Amino acid sequence: MGDTTKQVPFVKGLEGVAVAISSISHIDGKAGRLIYRGFSVEELAQYSNFEEVAFLLWHGKLPTDFELTDFKRKLARERSLSSEISQLLRLLPASSHPMDVLRTAVSAMGVLYRRCDGSGFSLIEDAISILSKIPTVLAAFEAARNNRPPVLPSAELDHAANFLYMLHGKLPEEKVARVFDAILILHAEQEMNASTFAATVTASTLSDIFSAITSAIGTLKGPIHGGASERVIEMLDEIGDPANVETFIEEKMSAGKRIMGFGHRIYKTYDPRAVVLKSMAKELVKSDPGRKRLEVALKLEEVVVERLGEKGIYPNVDFYSGIVYSELGIPKDFFTAIFAMARCAGWAAHIMEYTESNRIFRPRAIYEGSTDLRYLEEKAKARCE
Ligand code: CMC
Repeated sequence: MGDTTKQVPFVKGLEGVAVAISSISHIDGKAGRLIYRGFSVEELAQYSNFEEVAFLLWHGKLPTDFELTDFKRKLARERSLSSEISQLLRLLPASSHPMDVLRTAVSAMGVLYRRCDGSGFSLIEDAISILSKIPTVLAAFEAARNNRPPVLPSAELDHAANFLYMLHGKLPEEKVARVFDAILILHAEQEMNASTFAATVTASTLSDIFSAITSAIGTLKGPIHGGASERVIEMLDEIGDPANVETFIEEKMSAGKRIMGFGHRIYKTYDPRAVVLKSMAKELVKSDPGRKRLEVALKLEEVVVERLGEKGIYPNVDFYSGIVYSELGIPKDFFTAIFAMARCAGWAAHIMEYTESNRIFRPRAIYEGSTDLRYLEEKAKARCE
């Protein structure tokens, strides 16, 4: 048997390999820049709002006032969950991780709400439905696991404020809602990362967007992708005091272990999102545990950058986000789900863009196994083992 894979280039983890041509976002990993459709993420976080950014990502341009109002209205209209999803959320064990709940709920939503099936509804309508319902799913699960009735969504509030309202059962302060909105913008898009790739691979088979986003949620959950933010808070609490940082780093490095919230495949300097989140944390943190975590985080950053900065290891988006989330009263196991809530905008943008000029993903694997085993002989040997 001729092995044609011998000539196939193999790049572990697809480092440096482009899998799509895109005009959605770009990272300059040396300069520490991230742009969405030409705009720097810092400027968008400062001046825009999450709905406008989702529109920008999906349509490739800033909306007119009329388009933005219409888009916000469409999103607000899709927030409610049907009784089947509400019931499903009550049936799942209270101990379930919110990312498992979200993955399950989006998959179930594909059974109940999918409209883009060739009958005139567009992909955008399904994307609006998923983007709008994710916050409701998460807040309803938080209510269910605490034996409380869910707080129904409010069509009067923007995406970010409505989530905080449903989660906490009271209107958020304007400043808090604004911070959360900026956090969603910072997490909305990041080029061809692992979860976006997972979504794109699923979509490239011409499967539906609910399946593609279910794939993406399962991928984001991993501790070296979006799951890192939760591990960062655990690590900061384990360190406990800035005085323990040096010993902690020493132990991790001599054991060849990674420090959570540091390093990135593309950024070899400060991740611009981490820079914004760090200043948010400095401005926002008022609680005692928050102050302690921030002190530890600042010391940890100093020591890691001093020791590993030469190798391009700097804080990434997950390093300061958990400190900010905790201060906003968001439970630790919700951190990655907040990431998913925002990144859903980017996933959908890539699904739309890629499938416009689709080609199924079908790479190769380089085969290293046997090629000429005889079944009866091997079966006889196996029996005697
Ligand atoms: N702590 C210590 N050393 C590190 C770290 C870290 N966090 N990250 C990378 N390195 C070292 C690694 O040991 C390797 O060193 P050497 O060349 O001497 O063997 C070098 O840097 C390159 O590492 P790599 O494994 O080739 O890097 P990668 O591009 O495959 O992995 C990463 C990127 C993000 C998975 C990795 O940096 C990591 O595991 N970081 C910790 C988890 C984390 O914070 N993840 C969130 C990523 S950002 C948000 C997101 O994507 O969701």
